[in-house]
Amino acid sequence: MMERKHLMVFDTTLRDGEQSPGCSMNLREKLEVARQLEKLNVDVIEAGFAIASPGDFEAVRAVAETIRNARVASLARAVPQDIDRAYEAVRAAEAPRIHTFIATSDIHIEYKLKSTREQVLERAVAMVKYAKSLLSDVQFSAEDATRSQPEYLYEIFEAVIQAGATVINVPDTVGYTTPDEYYQLIDGIRRNVPSIDKATIAVHCHNDLGMAVANTLAAVKAGATQLECTINGIGERAGNAAMEEIVMAINTRQDQFPAKTRIETTQLYPASRLVSQVTGMKVQRNKAVVGENAFAHESGIHQHGVLANKSTYEIMTPESVGVATNQLVLGKHSGRHAFEDRLKDLGYRLEKQSLDSVFEEFKVLADKKKVIYDRDLEALVQEKTMRM
Ligand code: KIV
Ligand code: ZN
Repeated sequence: MMERKHLMVFDTTLRDGEQSPGCSMNLREKLEVARQLEKLNVDVIEAGFAIASPGDFEAVRAVAETIRNARVASLARAVPQDIDRAYEAVRAAEAPRIHTFIATSDIHIEYKLKSTREQVLERAVAMVKYAKSLLSDVQFSAEDATRSQPEYLYEIFEAVIQAGATVINVPDTVGYTTPDEYYQLIDGIRRNVPSIDKATIAVHCHNDLGMAVANTLAAVKAGATQLECTINGIGERAGNAAMEEIVMAINTRQDQFPAKTRIETTQLYPASRLVSQVTGMKVQRNKAVVGENAFAHESGIHQHGVLANKSTYEIMTPESVGVATNQLVLGKHSGRHAFEDRLKDLGYRLEKQSLDSVFEEFKVLADKKKVIYDRDLEALVQEKTMRM
């Protein structure tokens, strides 16, 4: 059998996720999330942006001192002060990494950096060399890569790899790319950067057009092996690619992705709950994999199918992502099978005639209420039996 390629998961919940408005975390909360990320078995934890504030510096340092089974990274702009601060924050880690970045698109170079392509390239190389003089694992990100000229990206990636970068990251900073286009970009980098085999290709997608996960998966097909993501997809603006979706897509569609991550998938739902509690950011009900409705069925046809065989309407099991069980929610679309089943669970065994009549009353009630709870069913049955 063919050996499945190992894909590394780089979690940036504590950095890019935290940059989401209203999602900032204190040191204790960051440590709690970091421990959960360790249980998930992520390969890299980006613990923060050490220079951003004294609190962030302390949090990155605490994560670096605590976590033993993952690399710990801090973000740093391509300037010496940032790199020094990042180094101080991560140096106690078992496997520390400095993640330095600079923008490479003309629009960022001209309006944000007020610089030129030549100067940016020079700075990138100098700062990767500087970071490399402090530790061995240096990641370089070309911010706004998907709006950068591909030939310029090839040139800058080749130069930073020669300068010692171990990982080159191709961020879709503004969530602008599409799966086909991103595939072409990653494929082009693989073909046109002569030293590419000396570095890991990382991808980092934002969700402005709702394509972050699809773009990440397209990049996997093109040869990217470090996937950057956050729990629940939190992050700047519309967020980052969601870890739970990437990982479960790869696991569920092995025919499409002959690769594996080290993620302990049963920790996905606990991680989702924790991040939601800590940040106060609610998870939408119909969110893939971890939303409240992800394993809930209301329509009679679906409930009937799931009762006969779960795989009729479930492509992964709730248990595989740490959800205790699926749910057959009773509402106006539900059918007799699920209704009878729920009554049995509640301890009621009704004759056919009573069952028919309670079912009729249930349908009338269901037209008035969005969800029928067990206590509503009990009330219906008790009313019925008292009348009989
Ligand atoms: O989106 C982005 O470009 C980033 C970089 C700093 C990697 O978050
Ligand atoms: Zn980002």
